[in-house]
Amino acid sequence: MIVKQKKKIIITGAKGQLGASLCRFRWPESYFIYPLDHSQLDITDMDAIEKVLSALKPDCIVNTAVYGMGEGADTEKSFQTNSLALLSLASFCKKNQIPLIHFSTDYVFDGQQKSPYREQDSKNPLNVYGSSKYAGELIVQHIAPLHIILRTSWLYGSLGKNFMRWIWESSHMEKELTIINDQIGCPTNVLDVAETTIKMVCQQLEKPLAEGWGLYHLCG
Ligand SMILES: NC(=O)c1ccc[n+]([C@@H]2O[C@H](COP(=O)([O-])OP(=O)(O)OC[C@H]3O[C@@H](n4cnc5c(N)ncnc54)[C@H](OP(=O)(O)O)[C@@H]3O)[C@@H](O)[C@H]2O)c1
Repeated sequence: MIVKQKKKIIITGAKGQLGASLCRFRWPESYFIYPLDHSQLDITDMDAIEKVLSALKPDCIVNTAVYGMGEGADTEKSFQTNSLALLSLASFCKKNQIPLIHFSTDYVFDGQQKSPYREQDSKNPLNVYGSSKYAGELIVQHIAPLHIILRTSWLYGSLGKNFMRWIWESSHMEKELTIINDQIGCPTNVLDVAETTIKMVCQQLEKPLAEGWGLYHLCG
C-alpha cells in the first residue's frame, strides 16, 4: 500500500484577519496546515526563519504577516516586516525549491488612474506602507522563482479591524456616522481571498512546473 504524505503548508501571521481565515478554511484532505502566529515566528528574525522553517520542512509558505499603516506606524518596522523579511522568506523558499505565496495591496498605486488598475500598471506608492509593500513584491519576484503574489484591497470579514465591520458595528450604536467620502476602492471579503488562495496553492502544488506563477489582482 502506498501512503501519500500530506503536503505541509505553513501560514505566517496566522492570527491576522487573512491568516486566521486561511487556517479556518477547509483545505483538501491531502494538505496539512501549520499556522505560525507572530509569537511563534517573527518573520523579521532571520535566524528564526531558518531554524523554525528548516525544522518544519514545509512544501509551501503562505505569508500573511504584515506591519500595517495605522496611526503612528513606525517606518523602520514597515520596511523590516513588509520588505526585508521577504528577503529571508524568499531566499528560504528558493534554497528549498518551494513556493512562496504572498499578499500585497492597492497602496502600491497612487490612485490617479480613472479606470480599474491592471497588474502591470505603473506603481507609485504614496506612503510608507505602500512603498514597503511594493519593495516586498519586487524582492519576492526577483528572489523566489516559484511565487504567487495576490494584490488585494479593503479586506473585510468577521475577524479583526476592518472598515465594513466598523460601519456595521457603529451603525448599531450611533444615529449618524461621519465617514470619509473621497476614497474609492474594492471591498473584498477575506473568505473569497482565502478560498482563491487555497485553490491556487493546490493547483500549483499539483503541477509544480506548470505556468501560473506570478502576480495577480484579487478584489471583490
Ligand atoms: N486588511 C486589508 O484591508 C488589506 C488590504 C490589502 C492587502 N492586504 C494584505 O493582506 C495581507 C494580510 O493582511 P491582514 O489584513 O490579514 O493583516 P492583519 O489582520 O493586520 O494581520 C497581520 C498579522 O501579521 C502579524 N505580524 C505582524 N508583524 C509580524 C512579524 N514580524 N512576524 C510575524 N507576524 C507578524 C500580526 O501579529 P500581531 O498583531 O501580533 O503583530 C497579525 O497577526 C497583508 O499582506 C496585507 O498587506 C490587506
